[in-house]
Amino acid sequence: MAGAGGSADGDLEAAGLRLSVTGEVATVTLARPERRNAMTGRTWEALAHVGQTLPESVRIVIVTGEGSSFSSGIDLNMFRPGGIEGEVSLTDRIADGSADDAELDALIAHYQEGFRWLRRPDVVSVAAVRGHAIGAGFQLALSCDLRILADDAQLCMKEPALGLVPDLTGTKPLVDLVGPNRAMELCLTARTVSAAEARELRLAELVVESGQLEGAVDDLVAALLAVPREAAAATKELLQGAPGRTLEEQSAAERRAQAARLRALAAQDARG
Ligand code: ACO
Repeated sequence: MAGAGGSADGDLEAAGLRLSVTGEVATVTLARPERRNAMTGRTWEALAHVGQTLPESVRIVIVTGEGSSFSSGIDLNMFRPGGIEGEVSLTDRIADGSADDAELDALIAHYQEGFRWLRRPDVVSVAAVRGHAIGAGFQLALSCDLRILADDAQLCMKEPALGLVPDLTGTKPLVDLVGPNRAMELCLTARTVSAAEARELRLAELVVESGQLEGAVDDLVAALLAVPREAAAATKELLQGAPGRTLEEQSAAERRAQAARLRALAAQDARG
């Protein structure tokens, strides 16, 4: 098992993250359990960096949290005067008028990069969620392709209750999974969804007893690794595109993807 190495490990630790890579599997752990894995701007920058520097060998990314919670969301100190030591204080910059709309847009886009890469077709991302996944924590779990929940998981889109909107790429997967009306109900009440309800709402692929979370993740990873990676990547891309296409367009996309696969398999056979 290898960490990110040297000072990179130090940077990740300062951002409240840990990365381990074992062959084809990377595990990203939110690692500020004393703050219930609250995340800051630095956490999201580091997450984006993990995505940009992921070894080519990796095809499965597990995202999990240390301790009793997956993540309590944004570190609330980001909204307090003074902010987080060593980081840009959004509240201060808005209050003193030094951040214009373009800057805010760029800053949020920068933070969103930490979440967007988890959809890349060349990896399958799996959120392993125990305890609370609140706000940005829920959005991080939603950014993953698959979610396994411990039965004590509690999901909450809390942003509207704090006067905000969810802006870390979580609204699209939420609507895709539960539909716009249920998404509205969940967000506009900011209520907490139990693991059992999350399964009913299709927010979780699997719910297991808390003590079996790691084992369930291992089983899923083993099953994912049993499928050839190129076929998995092509299939993920095909499925991701399906909601935005007509049947006609999707049928054509299937033909194109299959032709590429057949050619690749034939070339592989020819090489022996
Ligand atoms: N930001 C900063 N500190 C936090 C956060 C957070 N999001 N969440 C927890 N902490 C701190 C607590 O202040 C506490 O600090 P202390 O030990 O110095 O008192 C410590 O972490 C442990 O938290 P507790 O509340 O004691 O833990 P508990 O297990 O009882 O509750 C829970 C966990 C439910 C997550 C609770 O801490 C909570 O509601 N946190 C705030 C959640 C929130 O509103 N997040 C923002 C969502 S919006 C968004 O993400 C954009």
